[in-house]
Amino acid sequence: MTVVSGPVTRVAVVGYGYWGSKHVRVLSATAGVSVAVVDQDERRLAEAAARHPGVQLHRGLADVLDDVEGVVVATPAGSHAAVAAQALCAGRHVLVEKPLTTSVADAERLVDLARRAGVHLMTGHTFEYNPAVRKLREIVRSGALGRTLYIDAQRLSLGRYQPDVDVVWDLAPHDISIVSYLLDEMPASTSVWAQRNVGIRHNDVAHLRLDFPGSRVTAYLHVSWLSPRKVRTVTVVGTRRMAVYDDMSDNERIRIYDIGVDPATVDDGDGAHAVPMTYRTGDITSPYIAFEEPLALQDGHFVDCIHGRTRCLTPGRRGLDVVRVLDAAGRAAASGAPAGVGAAPVGLAAS
Ligand SMILES: NC(=O)c1ccc[n+]([C@@H]2O[C@H](COP(=O)([O-])OP(=O)(O)OC[C@H]3O[C@@H](n4cnc5c(N)ncnc54)[C@H](O)[C@@H]3O)[C@@H](O)[C@H]2O)c1
Repeated sequence: MTVVSGPVTRVAVVGYGYWGSKHVRVLSATAGVSVAVVDQDERRLAEAAARHPGVQLHRGLADVLDDVEGVVVATPAGSHAAVAAQALCAGRHVLVEKPLTTSVADAERLVDLARRAGVHLMTGHTFEYNPAVRKLREIVRSGALGRTLYIDAQRLSLGRYQPDVDVVWDLAPHDISIVSYLLDEMPASTSVWAQRNVGIRHNDVAHLRLDFPGSRVTAYLHVSWLSPRKVRTVTVVGTRRMAVYDDMSDNERIRIYDIGVDPATVDDGDGAHAVPMTYRTGDITSPYIAFEEPLALQDGHFVDCIHGRTRCLTPGRRGLDVVRVLDAAGRAAASGAPAGVGAAPVGLAAS
């Protein structure tokens, strides 16, 4: 039996849908945390009660705000700003699911509200808590791959069409967060090719190009709700080696390929028709990565932030930076031309 000492941290999870239910699962299993569930839909509350007997249930956040220290916002993206602002104005620490908001102005307002209230505003960039992504960052930053030439990320499946955002706002936050975390830099500009295939509202397939001038790296993101296979990969191509992070793999989530191509001088003038390249091939290795559920690590970090035990790794400022990229992507998709991200690239330490 685990004996928990110390104060109980009370957290309200707003939105008991697909993702909010996972927050409730991991927080309920976290020692010293008591969870209240808020959902405007009675059927969702009944599901929460059936799965977690004993949790408090509420139809509105106002009913429970006085009784909690932290609030997790897991409602659809379009409502994040209003729900988070309500909690911040009451002086509560807030963790908001990605994307932080659906406009730059709303994200700026939340960051400002948190600053004035002196509380944490944290963004749910879950992949920055994923041990495989952390390992990949370690590998990239160690120089083991050489200089990064480009990054290619794919996030495809027969996805869940969202009512209030398109596929870029729904899925690309993950890859923008991963790629900028690997490079420790936000992109300065983006180009987007997007397409609406099903329904009348939102693009469901998109390709984004992100330009990182400081690192001299280009990242290509492919996001889709309309693809037959579930693909979750990030490929980092370096001058010396290449690494593939495959989130669908059970035991080889990162593979490092000791391969590459080098330009070679052609000694023989008569052989000038030959392609002057030399190919290197070597081992494929896969580092051991112990499994820890990223959402549990993220929510545990939120609880630590509530208690002032740590600096927030994915603060609201970081969510704002990603929203700026998404906003630029919207402009780029509409105009067909590259769009500037609209703020000087900032290091991740600026929060
Ligand atoms: N980090 C990740 O990996 C990840 C994965 C999936 C979804 N998400 C994010 O989680 C959020 C929720 O997505 P989902 O797929 O679970 O949505 P969902 O539609 O399955 O669930 C949303 C729930 O919120 C409730 N709700 C809506 N507005 C509310 C309000 N104002 N007050 C109280 N309850 C309200 C709805 O009744 C519903 O139960 C989105 O922001 C999404 O982007 C994050």
